[in-house]
Amino acid sequence: MVQAHAPGKLILCGEHAVVYGQPAIAVPVFAVGATATVAPGTSGLTINLQDLGEQWRVDEHPDQPLAALATRTLQMLGGETMPLRIMLRSTIPIASGMGSGAALGAALVQALAAYSGRTLDAATVSALVYESERFYHGTPSGIDNSVVSFARPIWYQREAPAAPRIEPITLGTGLDLVIGDTGVRCPTRITVGGVRERERADPDTYRQWFEAIGHIVVDMRAALHGGELQVMGTLLDRNHALLQAIGVSSPELDRLVAAAHGAGALGAKLSGGGGGGVMFALARPEHRDAVQAALLDAGAARVIVTHVPASASEASLV
Ligand code: PMV
Repeated sequence: MVQAHAPGKLILCGEHAVVYGQPAIAVPVFAVGATATVAPGTSGLTINLQDLGEQWRVDEHPDQPLAALATRTLQMLGGETMPLRIMLRSTIPIASGMGSGAALGAALVQALAAYSGRTLDAATVSALVYESERFYHGTPSGIDNSVVSFARPIWYQREAPAAPRIEPITLGTGLDLVIGDTGVRCPTRITVGGVRERERADPDTYRQWFEAIGHIVVDMRAALHGGELQVMGTLLDRNHALLQAIGVSSPELDRLVAAAHGAGALGAKLSGGGGGGVMFALARPEHRDAVQAALLDAGAARVIVTHVPASASEASLV
C-alpha cells in the first residue's frame, strides 16, 4: 500500500487576468490537502471517494475525470493492469478556489506512480492533471495543477501557443495567511465565462484592467522577494479592487475582506474564481488570531490559518 499527498493552493494575485496572458502568483497551502492511497484490489480498478462515501469501478465511469486520469496515468506508467483500489480523501474546501480538484488529481497520479515503483517529475504530474482540470474549468490557465504539483510558490504565465512559463518565487519572509471560506460554492467555469462575456462586450476596458493586474503581480514578486509585508498588503487590496471591477467579487467576499481590514490585516482579497469561494488576508503574527475571529464573526463558514515559509534557497524548479 502506498500513499501520496498534494497541498491546497491560493492564488496570491493575478487570477482571471492570467487567462488573458498576464502573470499570476500562487502558493501551496499545506494546512489542507488531498491524500491518495493505492492498495491491491479484488477486481479491476476501483476509486473510493471516502469524503463522499462513493465507490465505483473505473470501467463503469470511464469519463469521470478522476477515472480518466487514473487510466491515462497507468497507461503512461506502462499499462499495469492488476486489480487496484484507489482511496481519495481531501480536507480542501470543494469548488472554493483552493484547488481541490487539482490536488486530488496530483495525489492520485503520484500515488499510482509510487505504487509502480516510479517517481514522476512535477511537470509530468502537472501535465496529466491539467487534462482532468479541463473538465471542471473548461479552459483552465493551468496555474492550479502547476502549483499543487510543484508544491512551492510559483510565478505562472501562460505563453502562446501552449507551454507555460513557470518560475519559482523567492520569499524573503514567511507569510501568515488567514483564509475565510464564504461557504458559497461557485464553479470557476461560471465566473470565467462571465468575465469572457463582459470582456467581449468591452475589450478595451478589460484589457486595461488585466494589464493593471499584471503590474500588481510584477510588483508583488519584488515585494515577496524583499519581504516587504506592508507593500504586499497594499498590492492585495489593489488587486481585490480590480477583481471587483471585473465583476467576480460578491457581497459575502467583500464582507469578509472588510472584516479582515477591521481586525488589522495588512491586506485582503478574494482568491481563485470568485463569485463565492474563499478570500484571504495577510496578517502580522500578532494580528492573526484577531483576523481569524473577525472572519468567523462576519459569517465565514470556515477559517483556515496557514503559514507559507520563507524560501530556503533559490532552488530551481526542475
Ligand atoms: O477557482 P480556482 O482556484 O480554480 O482558480 C481559477 C483561477 C482563474 O484564473 C480564475 C481561472 C484559471 O484557469 O486560471
